[in-house]
Amino acid sequence: MSRIDRELGRWILTDGVRLETDFSQTPQQLGQTPPPIEKPCPAELPRQALPAPGQWRGIQPVSIEAAIAARESHRAYAPTALSLDELAFLLWSTQGVRSLMGRRAVLRTVPSAGARHAFECYVLALRVKGVAPGLHRYLSLSHELAFLRNLQDAAAAIADATLGQDFIGEAAAVLIWTALPERMEWRYGDAAYKVLALDAGHVCQNLYLACEAVGAGTCAVAAYHQPKMDELVGVDGSDEFVIYLAPVGKVVKGAMDA
Ligand SMILES: Cc1cc2nc3c(=O)[nH]c(=O)nc-3n(C[C@H](O)[C@H](O)[C@H](O)COP(=O)(O)O)c2cc1C
Repeated sequence: MSRIDRELGRWILTDGVRLETDFSQTPQQLGQTPPPIEKPCPAELPRQALPAPGQWRGIQPVSIEAAIAARESHRAYAPTALSLDELAFLLWSTQGVRSLMGRRAVLRTVPSAGARHAFECYVLALRVKGVAPGLHRYLSLSHELAFLRNLQDAAAAIADATLGQDFIGEAAAVLIWTALPERMEWRYGDAAYKVLALDAGHVCQNLYLACEAVGAGTCAVAAYHQPKMDELVGVDGSDEFVIYLAPVGKVVKGAMDA
């Protein structure tokens, strides 16, 4: 038995929720401090600076028309590694910072309802030159990677946590986005959930398009075992939970999709 009934599920996706939300009672209107725009990162974690926007090498000048026309889901990846520049470019394309609006809000390379940006991005590095294999966090404000931990048999672990989608473990890296709903609830109350889910789509679409500039392919993945994925990333499943992920790897020309 599902925890929600069909009527409720459909209603959450309508903007009917907004009509029934008392916006005078949202944390924002009550004067509460917004949650941090980036989840704090323990100071003791090793950090690695990423090549900065405009300074990275190996990014092809692909026209936006060509990128949109060529975009497709790839489920077969070459054994080639991604370079650090390529990974930095993909992370910037999906969650990179355009500008800070004080300490309370940020504008990114993707849009977000109310500029709330309720996501964090984790990177499971499997084959990235210059990046230790294992789980990292993308610290977008400083454009760094923080190393969280190595994973035993990472390819098998991510395949298991994604319900046996083995191709994900064959990627060079897997971008895993978590949602921190409080950032969106602070402004929208019960109307937070629809816009939060919509926001995730923009992030992954930018990844698809950016992949076209580095000879890589990706595949949006929303089918996974929620408790296993949350455990793999190390989040509590309520205040922060995995919402979407995408493996990335160099494209095998002419490969049959899995
Ligand atoms: C929200 C969403 C969830 C998806 N989840 C998965 C998934 O779990 N596994 C998978 O192999 N593909 C997944 N896909 C990829 C779709 O199957 C793919 O986009 C679709 O077949 C159309 O192919 P195209 O992207 O090449 O146009 C997902 C796509 C979206 C947008």
